[in-house]
Amino acid sequence: MTLRLSSAGESHGPALVAIVAGLPAGLVLDRDAIDADLKRRQEGYGRSPRQQIEQDRVEVLAGLRQGRTLGTPLALVVRNNDHRNWTWGMSPWPAEGEPSGKGTKPVTLPRPGHADLAGVLKYGHDDVRDALERASARHTAVHVAAGAVAKALLRELGIEVVGRPVEVGGETTAEGMRDATDAARADRDTLGGIVEVVADGVPPGLGSYAEKTDRLDARLAFALMGIQAVKGVEVGDGFELARRRGTEAHDEIYPGLERRTNRAGGIEAGVSNGEPIVVRAGMKPLPTLMRPLDSVDLESAEPAKALVERSDVQAVEALAVVAEAAVAFELARAALEKLGGDAMVDVFAARDAYLARIGRRWHPGR
Ligand SMILES: Cc1cc2nc3c(=O)[nH]c(=O)nc-3n(C[C@H](O)[C@H](O)[C@H](O)COP(=O)(O)O)c2cc1C
Repeated sequence: MTLRLSSAGESHGPALVAIVAGLPAGLVLDRDAIDADLKRRQEGYGRSPRQQIEQDRVEVLAGLRQGRTLGTPLALVVRNNDHRNWTWGMSPWPAEGEPSGKGTKPVTLPRPGHADLAGVLKYGHDDVRDALERASARHTAVHVAAGAVAKALLRELGIEVVGRPVEVGGETTAEGMRDATDAARADRDTLGGIVEVVADGVPPGLGSYAEKTDRLDARLAFALMGIQAVKGVEVGDGFELARRRGTEAHDEIYPGLERRTNRAGGIEAGVSNGEPIVVRAGMKPLPTLMRPLDSVDLESAEPAKALVERSDVQAVEALAVVAEAAVAFELARAALEKLGGDAMVDVFAARDAYLARIGRRWHPGR
C-alpha cells in the first residue's frame, strides 16, 4: 500500500485536518517534534500578525496508540484559533443570530495572482471568500504535520531532510533578506524568493525510470509545485546545467562508486543515486498587496482596486518548512514503495537486505 495524504480545512474555518494512510505499524512519533515543525512554519521575518493569533499544535484523532502508529490511517488536526473571530462568517452550518465578527460581507474584488477570480468563475461563487479560504496557504500547517510524520519514518532509515531559504527578493545574505523585507514592507509591497531542500542519507534506488510517474525527480517537482506560490522547481544544478557542456555537467564515477560532484542533485534517470538529494523551489511575490493592483468589482463590473487583507510581506522561511515537509513526504512514499512492509520491523529487514545486496558494489561514506 502506498503512502497517501488527503486534507481538508479552510483558512478561517474551525480546523485543518489530514489523513495519512499507508504508514507501517510501530513507527514512534514525538508530538513535540511535530509541534516544533508547526512552530517553524509560523516563524520567519516578514510574516503577518496572524501568526501571533495561531499557536499551532497537532492533535491526533486516530491511527496512534501510546505514541506508536497502528498501521491504520493517521488522522491529524490543527485548529484555527482565529476561527473565534469568524464564527458567524465561516460557520459550516447556516449561521444564527445577527452577523458579527469577520467574513460577514461578500468579497467582490479579486486579487491578481490569487485564487479569487479563477475560483469564483470555476465554482460559481458570488463571494470571493468561498475560493480564497481553501486556496490560502494556511492549510499547509497540516501538511507540515504530515511531513513531520514522514520525517520520523525517514529518520529511522537514516535519512534527514532540511529546507532553508536561499534567496529573498533576489538577496542571498541573511542581512540582505531582512533589509529587502523591511524595504518591501515600507513600500507596502511583497517579495518572493527561493528555498532549497537537501535530503541526506537517501540510498540509491528510490524512484524508477519505468514510467514518468515513477520518476523521483518528477515526483519531487510535483510535490513542490503543488505548494501555493511556487512557480519554478530545479533538481540539482537545474537550469544552470542547460548552460554547460556535457563534460562539465555530469558527476564522474570513481572506485567505491564515489562521486566528487553532485550536479545531478542525487537523482539520475528518475532514481536516487546515493548522493544527497538537492531540490530548489522559486516562490513568486505574495499576491495580497497593501498597495492593491488594478482589478474589477465583480458585483458592479466597474474598475476597482483589489482586496486588501492582512497578509505576509514574504513567506520564504515558511515555504522552506513547507517544502521540506513536501519533499519528506514524497521520499517516505518512495522509500516505502522500495521497502514495503506492514510493520517497521519489516521495513528495517527489507532495508538491511537491500543495503547488503548493493553494498557489494556501493560503499557510502567512503
Ligand atoms: C507559506 C505560505 C504563506 C503564504 N502567505 C500568503 C499571504 O500571507 N498572502 C498572500 O497573498 N499569499 C500568500 N501565499 C501565497 C498564496 O497562497 C498563493 O499565491 C495563492 O494561493 C495563489 O496560488 P498560486 O500563487 O500558486 O497561483 C503564501 C504561500 C505560502 C506557501
